[in-house]
Amino acid sequence: MTEDQSTSRAKTVGPRDKTARRLLKSTANKFYDGEADIDWDAPMVDGMRWMPEHRISLYRTKLWDKLTEEQRRELGRHEIVSILSFGIYAEGILSANLLRVFGKGTFSDHSMYSIAEVGEESRHSIMFGKLIEKTGLKPYTMPKAGLLVSKIAQFLPLGPASYGGTLLIEEVLDRAQREAQNDPEMQPHLRQMMRIHVIEESRHITYAREEMVRSMQATNRINRAIHRVILATVANFTYIALINPRVYRSVGINPIRGIVTAMASPTYKTNMQFFSEPMIRFFAEAGMCEGVVTSRLWKMTRAMPDDLA
Ligand SMILES: [Fe+2]
Ligand SMILES: [Fe+2]
Repeated sequence: MTEDQSTSRAKTVGPRDKTARRLLKSTANKFYDGEADIDWDAPMVDGMRWMPEHRISLYRTKLWDKLTEEQRRELGRHEIVSILSFGIYAEGILSANLLRVFGKGTFSDHSMYSIAEVGEESRHSIMFGKLIEKTGLKPYTMPKAGLLVSKIAQFLPLGPASYGGTLLIEEVLDRAQREAQNDPEMQPHLRQMMRIHVIEESRHITYAREEMVRSMQATNRINRAIHRVILATVANFTYIALINPRVYRSVGINPIRGIVTAMASPTYKTNMQFFSEPMIRFFAEAGMCEGVVTSRLWKMTRAMPDDLA
């Protein structure tokens, strides 16, 4: 398996259908099916990790110091299930947006690629679900308010904020997975799942990056400002939604105490900056971080690279 990485830059966005043709060809040449390409019959390995230790939310906090080695692994198991559960919801929302592109009925390559991507997201969500099952834990379901907001978002017009929102999910997970897939201490099923996801998501990232730039160029100054503010607002919620506070109960920590400790820790900023760096640099290049309100909101995420903040 070779790992491509999206090389799309704001200045080098090509014609819509030319990119789509390239992505369709790549989709036909290089695709995986989690069902067949992961050895689900092999057992999980005792003592191996579910998350790299330094990416677990409580790493290097006072609460972390009190946890045994086994409890730290257990917290990692719950955190990965929370992230995968969020991933399934997110892929459903992204697919609904892609179907709206297809639903325009242009029959262009760009439109055909949108359903090719839905096909991949469907396989990913099944793969995430199987992985959750393999952990022996139940998925972390989204609160009703979160579900309602995601349903309302389906009525907003597609534009820079929707493609930016797609990137918020795809690029943050991509960066985390590129690191964890090479960690020999990680569970083998999880590493294989991450390899498959990384390869296929690089196409999705190219598609969303280029479309975000095109839609920014196609709209007026006021709309651009609105989309910037929406994206920066969504960013503040996306990061928080990844880890469900109920995960802390697995190691005897009150969920509120757990989340407050995690959010206040230096690890939060380190991890957010690590997960977001390529994406935020791209957003800045594409003009998505300009404006007083937008930059305030981005600073609140604590994900901005220091030189941009
Ligand atoms: Fe995916
Ligand atoms: Fe994707």
